[in-house]
Amino acid sequence: MNIAGKSIIVTGAGNGIGEGIARHLAAQGARVVVNDIDAERGERVAQAIRAEGGTAAFFRTDVTRRAEVQQLVDEALLLYGRLDAVVNNAGWTHRNKPLLEVDEDEFDRVYAVNVKSLYLTTLCAVPAMRANPGGSGGSFINIASTAGIRPRPGLTWYNGSKGAVITTSKSMAAELGPDNIRVNCINPVFNPDTGLAAEFAGGTLDEAARARFRASIPLGRFSTARDVAHAVHYLASDEASFISGVCIEVDGARCV
Ligand SMILES: NC(=O)c1ccc[n+]([C@@H]2O[C@H](COP(=O)([O-])OP(=O)(O)OC[C@H]3O[C@@H](n4cnc5c(N)ncnc54)[C@H](O)[C@@H]3O)[C@@H](O)[C@H]2O)c1
Repeated sequence: MNIAGKSIIVTGAGNGIGEGIARHLAAQGARVVVNDIDAERGERVAQAIRAEGGTAAFFRTDVTRRAEVQQLVDEALLLYGRLDAVVNNAGWTHRNKPLLEVDEDEFDRVYAVNVKSLYLTTLCAVPAMRANPGGSGGSFINIASTAGIRPRPGLTWYNGSKGAVITTSKSMAAELGPDNIRVNCINPVFNPDTGLAAEFAGGTLDEAARARFRASIPLGRFSTARDVAHAVHYLASDEASFISGVCIEVDGARCV
């Protein structure tokens, strides 16, 4: 699956799933812009990639702010001369709790980080992808969640935001196809080795809760950043040139 030399922005790549995606894509020869709102974490990931012989630069951006997202895209163009893909991975959730207890600030932040970020990266990255030589276009890979297709209690507003990511991605695929811009989603199931894991679990994740959740996944384990990175690798590659508007569950058959 060829992604050598592709210029790819990965948002929220300073930790968790995004870090795994950025490191894997760089190991496969992509030129990566590591983005995060947390400069220390993002810089650490970019340095680790370079230490392993990959090509990466960190650029701090809050993906909920238009001017900053434009700077992020401009930085990719300055560094690598083109932009081939954006992996919209940055995400946030309110803590697992009854839906009436989520306050307005939490609600707004969920939608800003998880949904408005798609709007802003679309506004800023589509013109760059349209300008790629020879109509080579580009691709968006949006990290949604199994929460968007099989919502469970306690995460209602987060679940809804991921449903919005999925529907928006399909609509983008339909509208941007004539520009040779592909748009796909990935729905990971729970990954306990991430910053958001404790919030999904309502504060703490004890062994009994892990075991209950694990038992609901037919393949008998949680997802890893590597599992998601492999799916991103495929969707970003030349071999996926006719794949657009799909959602890949990386969930061990949890959602069947
Ligand atoms: N962890 C899971 O179980 C799981 C399951 C399904 C989907 N997801 C999704 O995967 C994605 C990655 O989350 P994760 O689980 O690795 O969590 P994480 O907290 O480990 O990583 C998220 C990263 O996004 C960054 N970020 C947050 N707000 C930002 C902003 N405004 N601008 C730029 N960066 C920002 C954070 O600093 C952090 O480094 C999210 O979209 C999440 O919804 C996670």
